[in-house]
Amino acid sequence: MSISRQFAIVTGASTGIGLELAKCCAREGFDVLVAADEPQIESAATEIRALGAIVETVQADLSTTEGVDKLYETSKRIGRPVDALLANAGRGLGHAFLDQDFNQARLVVDTNITGTLYLIHKVGNDMRRRNAGRILITGSIAGFTPGSFQAIYNGTKAFLDSFSFALREELRDTNVSVTCLMPGATETKFFERAGMMDTAVGTSKKDDPADVAKTGFAAMMRGDGDVVTGLKNKFGSAVANVMPAGVLARQHRGMAEPGSAKS
Ligand SMILES: NC(=O)c1ccc[n+]([C@@H]2O[C@H](COP(=O)([O-])OP(=O)(O)OC[C@H]3O[C@@H](n4cnc5c(N)ncnc54)[C@H](OP(=O)(O)O)[C@@H]3O)[C@@H](O)[C@H]2O)c1
Repeated sequence: MSISRQFAIVTGASTGIGLELAKCCAREGFDVLVAADEPQIESAATEIRALGAIVETVQADLSTTEGVDKLYETSKRIGRPVDALLANAGRGLGHAFLDQDFNQARLVVDTNITGTLYLIHKVGNDMRRRNAGRILITGSIAGFTPGSFQAIYNGTKAFLDSFSFALREELRDTNVSVTCLMPGATETKFFERAGMMDTAVGTSKKDDPADVAKTGFAAMMRGDGDVVTGLKNKFGSAVANVMPAGVLARQHRGMAEPGSAKS
């Protein structure tokens, strides 16, 4: 890989927000190691290479210890310090909690929380030793709201939003920054994969993943603590901060309950 460029790891880079984050990295002078679970990561890499970056890929299930180890070992084999870690891989899951397949629910926790934490623990320790680095965590404005009919997912994002600020504070006296990207509903494969295409939120007009990624990447480069993308989402999250949790949970039903899609 080129040594004049910086080096970033982007997870969940095969589609959606992660692919757009990897493209931002490529355009702004980073070579990238991109990871996802499915073979589509290879075609994403071809797209990113076209922007002038050197791109390496890892196909790994980042909900598992083995998958994260495989990604981390690949970055060690490449042998370049990680200037930026964009921990973005994640998945959702619709329907009422008691109706969900528990293994699918656990996969959401293992991907969004456990795998993300394990990767940040490994790469973050390297960054702290070098006293340099940037970490971007894709949280969500969903973390502000108890997510009826998407309960596990919103809980995982509440965890990440909170964790991100705590880690940032712990690294205050270092040159390692931690930024939490908090998008609202964004036009990606997310809702289809979560089985939510019969819901109001699944069928609503959503934000452009390229815009979301640009905003998140810029916040990471500035070293900001967090960024909520889009004016409507900024307003929504400000309101969520003062509304009773029960009211928020009731409102979420209207967006996420199966059959809530407007015909
Ligand atoms: N779309 C939204 O409305 C929205 C809003 C706020 C936050 N977010 C967050 O944004 C992030 C990206 O989501 P997206 O909307 O861009 O959805 P997406 O298009 O479905 O992309 C998800 C990415 O994560 C990867 N991934 C999922 N599970 C994985 C696993 N176990 N191991 C490795 N890679 C895995 C996927 O790769 P494979 O296809 O290979 O599994 C894909 O590259 C997620 O953290 C999501 O929670 C999304």
